[in-house]
Amino acid sequence: METIIQRLGGESWDTIMLVYKASLSAINTKLQILNDEFQNAHHYNPIEHIKSRLKDRNSIEEKLKRRGYEISLENMVRHVNDIAGVRVICSFSSDIYQLANMLSSQSDIRVMSVKDYIRNPKESGYKSYHMIVTVPIYLSNGPVETKVEIQIRTVAMDFWASLEHKINYKFFDNVPEHIKRELRSCAEMVSDLDAKMMDLNEQVNHIG
Ligand code: GTP
Ligand code: MG
Repeated sequence: METIIQRLGGESWDTIMLVYKASLSAINTKLQILNDEFQNAHHYNPIEHIKSRLKDRNSIEEKLKRRGYEISLENMVRHVNDIAGVRVICSFSSDIYQLANMLSSQSDIRVMSVKDYIRNPKESGYKSYHMIVTVPIYLSNGPVETKVEIQIRTVAMDFWASLEHKINYKFFDNVPEHIKRELRSCAEMVSDLDAKMMDLNEQVNHIG
């Protein structure tokens, strides 16, 4: 399938962003359907909430520069994988893998890459499941393959990531060592909490 750049053959920021915006809607709909189906079959919602965003022009250009690419629409489509970003917040870690599998196995979704920072957390303590997928967006002259970054994490992992992000921002990424240590210790508590809550949930399910 063609990418938007192959299709355009010309330059049009607005058309490209329209396609990425459509890819957010497409992924959101797929996730919503899975959530509704779960609610219907198992009386339970694996998804707490979904946030999605389009990267703005400045951030896209900054990322290209940082990575040493010239600023062009072609480079942006080829090298910036998170122009369309969806963050899915789940209740339990087990929901994360189920959702990722259900989404990955849909025939119009192509998984380009996976980073499992849950099984392999970052040095900082960061945990989350990342996928870059493509989804076809149907324009008047046929489908174009469009990339979306999907981050899936628990409520607790999200709480940690938001605080850590704020701290990094405040210190311009030069976070003092003792604060980094505290953050790593919080990340361990997050993992313990997630494991205990999942266990408790399973126990309760068996009783009911
Ligand atoms: P960029 O960070 O976007 O340049 O991408 P990357 O190629 O390094 O990919 P990766 O999958 O590692 O990270 C993508 C996104 O995940 C980031 O833009 C953040 O939103 C989030 N992320 C990754 N690492 C961390 C982290 O240590 N802390 C927090 N709070 N968020 C992170
Ligand atoms: Mg990013």
